[in-house]
This record gives sequence, structure tokens and C-alpha cells, in this order.
Amino acid sequence: MKQDLSIIILAAGKGTRMKSDVPKVMHKIAGREMINLVLDEAKKLNPKEIAIVVSEDIAKYQDYISSTHKELAIKFVLQNQRKGTAHAALVGLSALQDLSQKRSEKILILYGDTPLICEKTLREMIEKIDDKNAVCVLGFETEFENQYGRLVVDENNNLTQIVEFKDADESQKEISLCNSGVIAVFGEKIDELLKQINNKNNAGEYYLTDIVKIARQKNLDCTFVKTNEEEVLGVNSRLELARVEDIKQNQMRQNFMEQGVSLLDPFSVYFSYDTKIANDVVIHQNVVFGTKVEIDKNVEIKSFCHIEGAKINQGAIIGPFARIRPDSEIQENVRIGNFVEVKNTKLKKGAKINHLSYIGDAEIGVNSNIGAGVITCNYDGFNKFKTEIGDEVFVGSNSALIAPLKIGDKALIGAGSVINKNVENDELAISRSLQKNIKYGASKFRAQKNISKNKKND
Ligand code: UD1
Ligand code: CA
Repeated sequence: MKQDLSIIILAAGKGTRMKSDVPKVMHKIAGREMINLVLDEAKKLNPKEIAIVVSEDIAKYQDYISSTHKELAIKFVLQNQRKGTAHAALVGLSALQDLSQKRSEKILILYGDTPLICEKTLREMIEKIDDKNAVCVLGFETEFENQYGRLVVDENNNLTQIVEFKDADESQKEISLCNSGVIAVFGEKIDELLKQINNKNNAGEYYLTDIVKIARQKNLDCTFVKTNEEEVLGVNSRLELARVEDIKQNQMRQNFMEQGVSLLDPFSVYFSYDTKIANDVVIHQNVVFGTKVEIDKNVEIKSFCHIEGAKINQGAIIGPFARIRPDSEIQENVRIGNFVEVKNTKLKKGAKINHLSYIGDAEIGVNSNIGAGVITCNYDGFNKFKTEIGDEVFVGSNSALIAPLKIGDKALIGAGSVINKNVENDELAISRSLQKNIKYGASKFRAQKNISKNKKND
């Protein structure tokens, strides 16, 4: 059942400091766009509706964002002029269905550029509001000098005011409890509260933070939830993007280790937001996981591997120096060794590709052995073709397998072959020029070379 909750995400910021042609919220953390990370958390709250407040530059990304969250009722709403966070919130509100000013649901306001926000914190905020406690603000403590808004709290721990840094006096600037920007508001009250906010302040903006002052004037209580600074870090520049990425990576490293994954050097292993790893997996130094990777128990990933879009099953050993590309399925006890690239390939149980290979658009049967330097020639410059290799096949080193190609079970391919005709079960296929051995040919060759060398030196 849908919660009695709707969400507004503010994302109309120009993001000028990113110096990018791409809207800020489309920049990625751990392989996922920031706006989509925020939506991932929003989704867990099971909201009725979500309004994303945007500027024009998001237009060509809207379909993509909606399609990554098909189960959510997302509306994009344009804020033509950036007049401040309260104005943006009102624009968002106008896109939510119930305009009767008797909204029964709670309204949560999030920022699109604050991607580490967690469901748990948001839940805590939502639970704190009702018809008496109309507003709950997410705050955090920080020791660093900053320009965040300050939460003014009275002796009963009620929130009495938020002062923007620009408008704060010296004693207010000393307050260490800061405003993250995230706010939950009781729906029945939100329209009237927001509409009373004016722009009479040092920035000439409509401050969403003024909602506290206005609620208090109406004898409504305001409260706050406190979280750590990391969870509410915003991204305004590439530097901050890198900082948030670093925090996210550390969170994932810690989670995996807590779940029983060994990271031999945690800080050198990089994950994607969706990486799945079972316990008793051992990951060596310098491994990078792209998106869509799933790793089952007892797998070992040795150093310097890059893996994306792959399912790796129990007992497989990958690397060092292996590259696994999308749409690959690596079954139980497979071995993939150094300088091997695998793409769109199913490697069945116990198959081995240990050295210097490219295997693409292929299926390799149970216990088959692919020798060093074997290449599937899957592309003729126009189309891609498939290579199907049966069970217990042995492909000799440095063979070129020209697709489309089928090699039957237990077949044997001689080293250095160029194979372009199908090979039946149990056949031996070999295609290379015959070797010629010349008796005393070596000394004859050397003698000849020496004659010409002596002539030159004369
Ligand atoms: C805001 C808070 C401040 C808080 C800080 C936390 C106000 C008045 N101040 O300040 O107390 O400490 O966030 O980061 O709310 N946005 C729009 N349309 C607008 C204005 C803003 O969509 O017209 C969006 C921005 O894209 C951004 C978010 O709202 O995602 C916050 O806006 P920003 O201008 O960065 O607010 P701050 O001045 O940082
Ligand atoms: Ca900001």
C-alpha cells in the first residue's frame, strides 16, 4: 500500500560550478546518477507521488529518469526562475495532485544534489510530524567553518527558527547545528505556510527555511532530527562530487566486509551502487566493479581486474589482470587468467581461459580449455557473430576462431589454427601451413650470412 506521503525533490539548480554540459543531478556517484540515487531512497518510503522541480536543461533526461523508476509516479515541473527554495517547493507542490489545501498526506522535501541521504533518516523525520508538530527539519553538527543555515533550538529542544548564514548575527553563526535543507511538513498545513514566506532578506530569495518561523507564529511546533554531516553532503563542484564518491565507496567497502567479504586492501577496491557480493568472496588489491555485477560465494578476484555486467558463480577464480565485460555469465569453478577479455559470453562450469585471450559473443562448454592467445573473431566490420564451443573441447594456443562457428564436444583444435568451418564432436581440426625441416640448413644459413658480412667489412 502507498504511504500517506508525497515527495518534492528540488533540482532546479544550474550547477554552474560543475562546469558541465550535463545537469548537475545527472552526474554519477558509484555509477548511478545523483537524482536516481535520491529516487532509490525515496522509493523505499513508498510515496504516492514525487514532484521533481527542474530547469529546462533536464528535459532530455526526463524519460531516462522516469524509466529507471517505472514504479514511481514521477512528475517533472519546471521552475522558470530560481527565486529560492520556498518558491521551488511551491512549484513542486503545484504538481502534486491534491490542490484542495486539505492534503491528507505528509510532504517530504529533498534535494537532488544530496545523494547520500538514507531512507532510515527520512522515516524518522516523517514519523515525527503530525497536526501539532507541523515541521521536521534534518540537521547535522559540523566542526568546520561553513555557510549553512543554523538551527535555533530552545531549552525544550523545540526548533524555533532557521537563520541563513547571510542573515545570522555573530552569536547565531556560533551555532554548530546546521540545516541540511531536508524538511518534512504536515500536508494539511504546507500550502498556507509556504505562501506566507516572503523574500525580505539579504539574498532577496524566498527561503524555505522561513517555514519554521511562520509555523511558530501559527502556534505549530517544529522539531528536528540530527544526522551526520556525510549523509547530507551536497554536490556543487567536481571536487565535492569526488568527496561524496569517496564516502560512498567507503560505505560500500565497510558494508561488504561486515557481510563477510574479504577485501585485501579495501581502499583500492571500487564498487558500483548495485554491486552484489556473497560472503566468503576474496577480493585482492586494485579491483574495479562497473554496474550490474553479481558474485556468488567462494569466488576469488585477484588483483587488477575490471568487471562489469557479469554474474560470477561459486568457486570461480578471476585474474589477475582480467577484464569481464557486460552480459557475461561465469559458471562454477571457471578460471579466467591474466590479460583475458570476456564479453557477452557464457562460460560453463569448469571452463578455463588462462592467458592472453579475447572471447566475445561466445558460449564455452563444461570443462573446455581455451589455450593462450585464442581469439574469437566475432566481428567482420559490419556484424557480430557467435562462437559456440561444446563441452571438454581443447582449443590450442594462438588460434583464431572465425564466427559464426560451432565446435562440437570433445573436439581438439591444433595450436595456431585459423578455424572458419564448424568442427564436429570429437574431431581434430588443424589449419596451418605444413612445417618443413632442412638438414644442416641452419649452418648453411649462417655461412651465407658470414660471407656477406665479411664482404661488407672489406
Ligand atoms: C539551503 C538552505 C540552507 C542549508 C543549505 C544546505 C535555504 C534558504 N537555505 O541553502 O539553510 O544549510 O541549503 O545545503 O533553503 N533550488 C531550486 N530552486 C531554487 C533554489 C534552489 O531548485 O529557486 C534547489 C537547488 O538546486 C539545490 C537546493 O534547492 O538543490 C538548495 O538550494 P541552494 O541555493 O543550494 O541553497 P543554499 O543557499 O545552499
Ligand atoms: Ca547549496
